[in-house]
This record gives sequence, C-alpha cells and structure tokens, in this order.
Amino acid sequence: MLEMKKITRRCGKINPLSIEDFMATDGYEMLKKAIKMDKIAIIEEVEKSYLRGRGGAGFPVAIKMKGLAKEIATPKYMICNADEGEPGNFKDRYLMENDPHQIIEGMIIVAYATQANQGYIYIRGEYDNAINIMKWTIEQARKNHFLGKNILGCDFDFDIEVRSGAGSYVCGEEFALIESLEGKPGRTRVKPPFPTQKGLFNQPTLINNVETFANIPFIVDIGGQAYAKIGTPSSTGTKLISLSGNVKHKGVYEVPFGTPIIDVINKLGGGIANNRKLKMVQLGGACGPIIPEYMLDMVIDYERFEEFESKTGAGAIIVIDNRFDMFDILLRIVEFFAHESCGKCTPCREGHIQLANLIKKFINCEATIKDLISLESLARVMHQTSLCGLGQSSPTSIIATLRYFRDEYLDRIESSDMIKGEGK
Ligand SMILES: Cc1cc2nc3c(=O)[nH]c(=O)nc-3n(C[C@H](O)[C@H](O)[C@H](O)COP(=O)(O)O)c2cc1C
Ligand code: SF4
Repeated sequence: MLEMKKITRRCGKINPLSIEDFMATDGYEMLKKAIKMDKIAIIEEVEKSYLRGRGGAGFPVAIKMKGLAKEIATPKYMICNADEGEPGNFKDRYLMENDPHQIIEGMIIVAYATQANQGYIYIRGEYDNAINIMKWTIEQARKNHFLGKNILGCDFDFDIEVRSGAGSYVCGEEFALIESLEGKPGRTRVKPPFPTQKGLFNQPTLINNVETFANIPFIVDIGGQAYAKIGTPSSTGTKLISLSGNVKHKGVYEVPFGTPIIDVINKLGGGIANNRKLKMVQLGGACGPIIPEYMLDMVIDYERFEEFESKTGAGAIIVIDNRFDMFDILLRIVEFFAHESCGKCTPCREGHIQLANLIKKFINCEATIKDLISLESLARVMHQTSLCGLGQSSPTSIIATLRYFRDEYLDRIESSDMIKGEGK
C-alpha cells in the first residue's frame, strides 16, 4: 500500500465537529501522556524523531522548540501557520476540515513543552469553512478543559485564537504573518533576530505549519525513535501531498518520505487524465521547480530535492500535460508573484515586471539569445538578493526550465529569427 495514513488516519472516518468522536479514537490521550512527562523529555522525543517543518523550508522542529523553551521573557507566543496561499497546496485545509482537534492537541503539547502562553492560528481568509471549524474546535477544547486555565488540572495555562488573513500570499512568510497579526501591512523583517527571539509584539514566538503540529501527537504516541524509522534518514515521517493538475484523481495523499513522485502520479493519481501525454510537473507549488518526465522517479526527500536547488515545499505536485505551452505557464507564475510582491525590496518589486516582459518576448516569438541571458541572470540575481523567501524562490520555475527545457527556449529563439528573416 503506497499511502501511509498516520496524520490523516481519522480523516473521513470521524465527524470533525465532534470532540467525542476525536476522543473515542485516542484524541487528547497524547496530551494527557505528555503532561505527565518532563517538558525537556517531550522536546527530546521531537529531536529524536528528526521532524522537520512541513510549511516549506524543512527546518528542524526541535531546534525551534528548544529556542522558545530557553527564552525567559514572557509572554511567549505560538503561531500555527495556516495561510496556505501557495497555488497548488490544499493539504492544510484538508487537515483543518477533517481532523481539527489533532492540530490543537499538537499545539497544546508544544506549548506545554516550551511554556508558551498564548497561541494563534492564522488561517487564509478564503478558507471560510476551515475558519469556522477551527473556532468551533477551540471552543469544544476549552469546554473540555484542554485549553484555558489549569489545563487538565495542572499548573499550565494556554489558549488559542483564530485570526484570518486578508488574501495576501506573502503573509504566509513568518515575519510578514507576524506583522499582519500585529495589525500592520504584511511585510517581512530582516533576520536575525529570529521569531523565537523576537517575534510577535517583539516577544519570543514559535511558528510552525499546520501539518507540523499535527505530527506532534503521533510522535508522543510512538516515540521519536520509532517515528524516525518511517521515511528516509534525512526526511522522517510521512508527507501530505496535494496532487492537482491533469491527473485523474486529484486530492490529498499521505505517503512516507522516500516515495517516488511517479508513484504518486500514477498509482495514487491514476495517471494523466484523458490518456494525454505528460509534459512536465511542478513541485512544491508556484515557487517550485518544473521538471521533465524523465526525472519523476526522484523520491520525495528534503536532501534529494536540495540537490536540484529546490525544497520539497509544502508538498504540492502539479501535473501538466502536453496541451500547455511552457511559456504561458511561466508567465502566469511570474504575474502571480508580481501581484503578490509586497514591494519592500527592489529585486522582487522590479524583477518580476522585467521577468514578465522577457517571457512575453518568448511567447510572441521576439526573443533573442540576449534575452535568454538576461532572463537567466535576472532570475539568479532575484534568487540571491531578494529580502524574503518570496523573491528568493519565485524564479525557481524559470531557473529549472532553463536547465531542463532549454531546447524550448532555443527553439523559440530560432522561430523568432525565422520570423524576423521572413519580414526582411
Ligand atoms: C512567501 C512565503 C509564503 C509562505 N507561506 C507559508 C504558508 O502559507 N504556510 C506555511 O506553513 N509556511 C509558509 N511559509 C514558510 C514560513 O515562513 C515558515 O517557514 C513556516 O511557517 C514555518 O513552519 P514549519 O517550520 O513548520 O514549516 C512561507 C514562506 C514564504 C517565503
Ligand atoms: S522579496 Fe518580495 S515579498 Fe519579500 S520583502 Fe522583497 S518585495 Fe517583499
């Protein structure tokens, strides 16, 4: 069986609005177990599990937890990042809509281990249903003394509030999100200091993704060492994949790290819809690389992806069949990022406009070798000099296609030369 349902094991099987259903399937039992453990022992289990953040960058979770735990300033905050603005990603919505208490349980365990005082879930504004479900879930957890004062009769107070975004993609970036939570425009801050040192209202703050928190009860349940045996040595556990595009069965699938991309597409997604031919696949979301069919036996793994100057991202796989023109797709991606750029730094603010102009030349068969060189160097400069992850990662699709689909660029330049020649 390719799927390994650990984090999604309750999805579709329980009523997500019912705390009774959740508790009947061991829900909040891991919180009860954790609260009897030493705080540092919980962090050590997470460390042994090698759990890495599921929001995109894959940062080790235990390092953040240790960072927050050692801060003495109070209050200490915790944020669950449920902004999920990256096109092609919908796994956090799936978790919130199908097993919301598991996320809350994970947050409470982390709060207990790090002595955080107040939590926030920052949910993408368009996710009306998830926002309502999470509010209801928090209310249920409060009524059952899993949130609020003296949780489970212990000297431990912690509560959670839901906040919603207002449709800005960059507000998923941790500091832009923090600024937005503070009621300011969503713009990043220069790092360091990192959020665990000075985050929300300049207080120590831990920020993790929805799926990251959802892994915590499972780690407390089976222990860090057993968890680390799932997946690969560099990428432990399972990954939720948002599979979309031209496949037969789109959806969210949970697979162990180490699963080949081609198996997700063919065995879980049922292959390319309408018997068309696959042209390319975008990994991670709009800011991820576009790769050709011959690379699809690559396995889902943080280290493997880094060899390709890529991140696993949040786990999107977008399948594109051969009806689509690569340059049209690149233009859509660049225009999306041009719209979402917050404008704070020049490489990103001006760079996307220039990238779009260059790609339009390829679409209109007006491109020259000089344009190809300009596109390549501009994409690299943006990647290296933009202030935040948006401008650093948005040119990834261009950089990848220049490597793996270079012939298409050269063919277009040749067509441009021919058209010019005919015009003489
Ligand atoms: C432009 C941009 C958008 C982001 N959007 C999200 C998002 O929607 N959800 C998310 O969890 N992380 C997002 N991130 C990553 C966060 O900055 C941060 O690394 C993450 O929330 C940390 O959680 P994790 O360690 O559990 O992955 C984004 C980063 C960038 C640069
Ligand atoms: S990279 Fe883009 S989104 Fe990030 S700070 Fe610069 S302008 Fe804003």
